[in-house]
Order: sequence, then structure tokens, then C-alpha cells
Amino acid sequence: MKRILTSETPSQKGNKVKISGWVETRRDHGKIVFFDLRDREGIVQTVFSSGEPAAYEAAQAVKSEWVVEIEGMVQERPEKLKNPNLATGAIEISATKLTVLGEAKTLPIPIDTDGYEIGEEARLKYRYLDLRRKRLHQNIKARNEVIHFIREFLRKKDFIEIETPIITKSTPEGARDYVIPSRLYPGKFYALPQSPQQYKQLLQIAGFERYFQIARCFRDEDPRADRQPEFTQLDLEMSFVEQEDVMALTEELLIDLVKTLYPKKEIQEIPFPRLTYQEAMAKYETDRPDIRKDQKNPDLLAFCWVVDFPFFEKSEQGGWTFTHNPFSAPKPEYMQNLMEQKNIGTILTTQYDIVLNGLEVGGGSIRNHTSEALEKVFEIMGYKKERIQENFGHMLQAFSYGAPPHGGIAPGLDRLISLLQGEPTIREVIAFPKTGDSRDLMMNSPSELAENQLRELHLRVQKEK
Ligand code: AMO
Repeated sequence: MKRILTSETPSQKGNKVKISGWVETRRDHGKIVFFDLRDREGIVQTVFSSGEPAAYEAAQAVKSEWVVEIEGMVQERPEKLKNPNLATGAIEISATKLTVLGEAKTLPIPIDTDGYEIGEEARLKYRYLDLRRKRLHQNIKARNEVIHFIREFLRKKDFIEIETPIITKSTPEGARDYVIPSRLYPGKFYALPQSPQQYKQLLQIAGFERYFQIARCFRDEDPRADRQPEFTQLDLEMSFVEQEDVMALTEELLIDLVKTLYPKKEIQEIPFPRLTYQEAMAKYETDRPDIRKDQKNPDLLAFCWVVDFPFFEKSEQGGWTFTHNPFSAPKPEYMQNLMEQKNIGTILTTQYDIVLNGLEVGGGSIRNHTSEALEKVFEIMGYKKERIQENFGHMLQAFSYGAPPHGGIAPGLDRLISLLQGEPTIREVIAFPKTGDSRDLMMNSPSELAENQLRELHLRVQKEK
């Protein structure tokens, strides 16, 4: 007999079926034993009675979270025992055969609660169990729906998905890089990408006018509720566009996504209101304003754009550094100032950030597409010619072979999905997140390397005194 899912059982009344899954709960009433059997779709009640002695006997040994296969008849429950809150609540399976597929020790954490009450260490050490809980199953499935929706939406708009390297070169995105020592080139290192920024721009030069990627990004920062050392962006880039085009596409995507997948949610204002950086700071004292009219309404989504950021700010060393993205173009009216390195503090960038309920859920810009303008940005930041060549020579060179005007954006999917799911942290929507102090307690990483691995990588670890 072929296994069916618990969700299919109500349509099989009067038939014999085979189901398999985990024993969520087990209730022993003497002559009758009940299991709630859970599979990827939900649960169904199964009944073992002494009238079926073999199955009944086998059911005696089974404990919760064992994996079992059950054959039995689908029967309508007596009217007063029907459970209207359960999709399968009108029926039960009268078991005729039970096979144990996998035994389970007592779980170290409960999984029948929402899990917020359990310490992070225990949840993440046993993440594969933590993930069994219904709330997390729903989050991970919702994430899948969101990503699927995005892929479909962008495909219809003529975007193509292109993978870019993970083993790459250190890039300036404002955070520290994760680095990979090279075995073949002693003393040299690869870096994990903080974002696919440079590759997506190079893809524009390569003529892929509409690129996107569900891109993993890596940043060696201290994690917070809305930050992980590795996270996922919907990274996109378009050629022959202006700021308005990228913003309009992003807005359409977000509105469509919410209306389709989260119809109960209410978007506070469409089109999304826009604030300049100055206005946001003056009115909300932050460039990530929470403009919700009713902060208690869990279904309210208040998107807004923040634009007109200063391009540069003073660095701790007293020179200039970029506020957002060194590859951004200034607003057209400030291009001359950039090229002449004049009034640097007043230059505004084409950067646009999208903010949702006080969280920055994405950022992008129109890029400098001439090597002269890009070079000027690095000069303003005090980079010497050699360093510019060493770090960005490939970009400058690429721009000299016919670069289209281009721009893009990268919504952070973890943040977006955690807000849509009403979760307090992005860890709740990532299958295997790191702890607040960047460890993976389940895999036990970071961990030490064996002496021979270190030797191969030309590394020696200096123990801190
Ligand atoms: P930016 O650095 O602003 O832009 O990142 C874009 C979005 O990614 C999300 N994000 C994070 N999410 C979780 N954990 C983190 N550590 C983390 N860091 C960032 C945020 C943020 O808005 N290359 C540019 C994009 C572009 O210009 O196209 C970039 O990476 O939601």
C-alpha cells in the first residue's frame, strides 16, 4: 500500500490507508491507546484497541516522537468527539498494523510549545528538534513561499537568476570580511562576499540587463536580533534605469507579495511614502523611522523610502568615508562636486533605503558607471592610486569597455520575512541560524583545525596571552 499524508485522510472515509510520521502525543486509556500522528502536513488521530491485538500490543512500547508507520481504516468520529479546530478532526484511523521505523529518546527540549520560553542555547544546539515545532515549520514554509513568489514575479519581468561566487575577494561594504586562507598560494586569502555587489555590476557590463539572485551574504559583525553573520538578500540589478525605475519595481514586488501571500496584512500607505534623510532625522531621529499609525496592530505594515542620504561622512580618522555604498552614483546635480572634489559633505547619493516598521529591509542605488567617477569616490576617501588599482582595478577596467547606466537594490529577506511572520528576530525564520555570539552550537563551530590542516594552509595559530 502507498503511504498517504495525514491531510489526505479525511477524503478516505471507509478506506484502508497507510500513514507515517512522528508520534506527537500518546494517550493511554487502558483498552484503547491514542496517537496523534504528525507528518509534514499536520496531524491525525489514530486509535489502537484490543480488538486488533497485534497493533495494540505494538503500540504499548511506543513513546512520543518515535517514527512509525500505521495502517488502518479511516472512520468518522462520533459527532461529540469531532474536533472542528483540526483539519482531520472529523475522522480517526482505526489502526490494524503498526511498524516502528525509528525510536526516539526523550527530547531535550519540548517541541509542543511556541518555543519562545526556551533558552537560545538549547534551541540552537538541538535546532533539528526545535524546527519540528509547528511555529517554525510555518516560518520555514512561509519563507519558501516568499522566495518562490519572488522568483516567479521577477521571471515574468524578464529578470534572470545568476549565481555569483562565494569564494571571492574582500569587498568594502562597511563590515568585516570572513576570509578563507589559500592552500595553493601561501599567505593569500579569499574572502566570502558581503554581497554580490561587484559581480552584479559586472553582469551589467556583460549585458545581462536584468539580474537577480537569492544571494547568501557574509559579514563578520556582532549579531543582533536583526543581524546574522550570514544572511540572504534578494539581490537585483538593472541596466538603463534611473532611481524611480528600481524603486517602482521594488514597490510593486513588495505590494504584490503582501497582497498575495499575506492578504490579512494591511499596508499603511500606497505608494510608499518617501522621506529624505534630513526629514527622517528631524522628525524621527533615525534613518529607519517606524511610521506606523498604530503600533499595536500586528497586521499593519508601514513601508517607507528614505532617500537623499549624504554620500560621505567623516571617518574616525578624520578623513571621508562612504555612508552606504562606495559604488553609488551621486545625485546628478552633485556629479560636478564629486568630480571636482568640492563641498564633499554636501554631496547627496542616489541611495534609497526601504524601511518597514522601523527596520531597514533593503537598500540600493544607481551606480557610478564611469571609471572616472568611481575612482573619484575612492580618491575622496583618501585611497592611494596603487590601492585603488589593487582593490578595484578590475571594476575600473570593466567600466572602460562600455558600461551601461545601471542600478539595483537588495532587500534583506530574513528581515522582511521575520516582519511578515510577526517574529521578534530573524533567527526565527532561518533554518540554521547562529547564536547571538556567532556560534553554531549544533555543529560546534567555529572549531579548531588539526595541525596538518593548519600546515597545509600555511597558518600558525598564535595563542593569545
Ligand atoms: P546593504 O548592506 O544595505 O546593501 O544590505 C541590504 C540589506 O540586507 C540586509 N542586511 C542584513 N540582514 C541580516 N543580517 C545582516 N548582518 C545584514 N546586513 C544587511 C538589510 C539591508 O537593508 N550591495 C548592497 C545592495 C545594493 O546596493 O544593491 C548591500 O548589500 O535588510
